[in-house]
Amino acid sequence: MKKLIASLATAATFAVLASSAVAQTYPDKTITVIVPFAAGGPTDTVTRLVAESMSKDLGQQLIVENVGGAGGTLGAARVAEADPDGYTLLLHHIGMATSATLYRKLAYDTLNAFDYVGLVTEVPMTIVTRKDFEPADLKGLIDYVKANKDKVTLANAGIGAASHLCGMMFMNAIQTQFVTVPYKGTGPAMTDLLGGQVDIMCDQTTNTTKQIQGGTIKAYAVTSPARLDVLPNIPTTEEAGLSGFQVGIWHGLYAPKGTPPEVLEKLSKSLQKALKDENVIARFAELGTKPSPEADATPAALKAKLESEVARWKPVIEAAGQYAD
Ligand code: MLT
Repeated sequence: MKKLIASLATAATFAVLASSAVAQTYPDKTITVIVPFAAGGPTDTVTRLVAESMSKDLGQQLIVENVGGAGGTLGAARVAEADPDGYTLLLHHIGMATSATLYRKLAYDTLNAFDYVGLVTEVPMTIVTRKDFEPADLKGLIDYVKANKDKVTLANAGIGAASHLCGMMFMNAIQTQFVTVPYKGTGPAMTDLLGGQVDIMCDQTTNTTKQIQGGTIKAYAVTSPARLDVLPNIPTTEEAGLSGFQVGIWHGLYAPKGTPPEVLEKLSKSLQKALKDENVIARFAELGTKPSPEADATPAALKAKLESEVARWKPVIEAAGQYAD
């Protein structure tokens, strides 16, 4: 018995030594960051900006791999099953929380399959249409949709996506269900909105601001409590007459469960630096958002956020009874 306890103690000591040794040399190769949506969309844009800055800080490339589909759950599953060595990460948003209830047969346990690095940003949404859409304001848009609900189409990035959540909230708010068209991300959906193949989308400012400023799409409202500096002429949903319709798309950086705590700490410190990087701050501002505060770019803050958001959306989704599977 004494021999067994001694060998267990030795094994534990070796494990700690090994993981701190790992942390000391981490990272010694390229790190892959999985974006669970198509390239060119809002989550891809945010991830590439942060990854570029963290690469400089960590001295190794953080490369982005887009694994779109099933509202972001395919990409999340890829990271849930990856080696917990710090070389595969996930940057995902509020969809991480809603999918935990929307999908009853998820390939992973949302609250137990990941370790946490930190919160990254919270992006407002915009209600936009193709540029030649008739209605002049949100009230006109709502009346038009109600009168044409069988032919109006709303693009989204699949069940569990931010654009799906916002679209669902919009339909519930105006008590009118209309046709949705799913994509692997709002990057490709934007291409079809620009081309007039779809009519409406509720999407993040990180994907819509430049198009709105360029007049290539039409904007009706932002879902933030106040107007945005970059879109001063676009009213809030509150101002436009849709009260109680505010949503911000919070984003977090995750790792597979079992990633050494020292590695998570190193990544969190690097994320905090990236969120103070002048270039990241400037680019985020151009796209209508800002970095999360330092205190939120921590494992504990992201864990708390995910847990509270899963609890917040579960009764809402169960009440709606709209599941993905
Ligand atoms: C994307 O990057 O395509 C979006 O985050 C999709 C979404 O959630 O609407």
